[in-house]
Amino acid sequence: MEYTSVLTEVRGRVGIVKLNRPQAMNAFNMTLVAEVFDALEAFDKDENIGAMIVTGSEKAFAAGADIKEMAEASPFEMISQGRVEKWDRIRGIKKIVVAAVSGWALGGGCEFALSCDMIVASESAKFGQPEITIGVIPGAGGTQRLARLIGKNLTMEMVINNRTLTAAEALQFGIANRVVPVEGYLDAAVAFAEEIASRAPLATRMAKDAVNAAFETTLTEGLKTEKRNFYMLFSTEDQKEGMKAFIEKRKPNWKGK
Ligand code: CAA
Repeated sequence: MEYTSVLTEVRGRVGIVKLNRPQAMNAFNMTLVAEVFDALEAFDKDENIGAMIVTGSEKAFAAGADIKEMAEASPFEMISQGRVEKWDRIRGIKKIVVAAVSGWALGGGCEFALSCDMIVASESAKFGQPEITIGVIPGAGGTQRLARLIGKNLTMEMVINNRTLTAAEALQFGIANRVVPVEGYLDAAVAFAEEIASRAPLATRMAKDAVNAAFETTLTEGLKTEKRNFYMLFSTEDQKEGMKAFIEKRKPNWKGK
């Protein structure tokens, strides 16, 4: 696929997808949504990639769904285009996706970052769900993911009062994993992702699956998923290698098998 709205780059074992619609603050139009998922899915299939990063510009990660594209749409047009359903493709990605967020992460931009597995934020990052100011509500998971992550009252404040969180607040409330200086924020995110990419690939995948189960099921069901994934890893060469390397006091050599 030829991309017009994203740029891709590989650094070591990290695949980077850069949202690139500077004229619209990286607002997600249908093209951008299709391209970002196409690029992520291609990296997900690539054995040379161990982890992925989605980023925007220093000024804007993404300012939400493209308001101009949907301003005149009817509900049926929105539904038949699968406007927000298309965003669910992120749930099919098996490798870890890190959002490297600088500047605005608003509306669908905030929701996209929240859909990633972890967030490295620059000091200028601002997270918000301003949809109420244009007469709608978040549609790509904001009310649900935020409520699970930061609790009901603060989510209400973000969604209803248009409260924007600074990077420091995002760290404090558990949205961001790290806050780093604006200058070099992408390099910091790449270093963070490189560490992830250096882990045993199948164990990383099973870990992501098990942690995500905590948001989908009861504790009993979640514990079953965790145990199943734990036992399954004993069928891998990497489990044998990892434990042998520990005993032999050396670094493991992962095969992803
Ligand atoms: N959709 C379409 N275009 C957008 C956009 C968006 N979400 N956000 C910014 N742009 C465009 C602006 O219209 C402007 O274009 P023109 O130069 O052609 O006028 C350009 O990007 C630059 O934006 P601003 O001049 O507004 O830049 P600023 O620095 O003054 O403000 C901002 C930046 C605070 C991000 C502001 O642009 C803004 O508030 N954007 C809208 C945020 C928003 O409401 N997002 C929610 C969208 S709905 C949604 O996301 C639904 C969902 O859940 C899926």
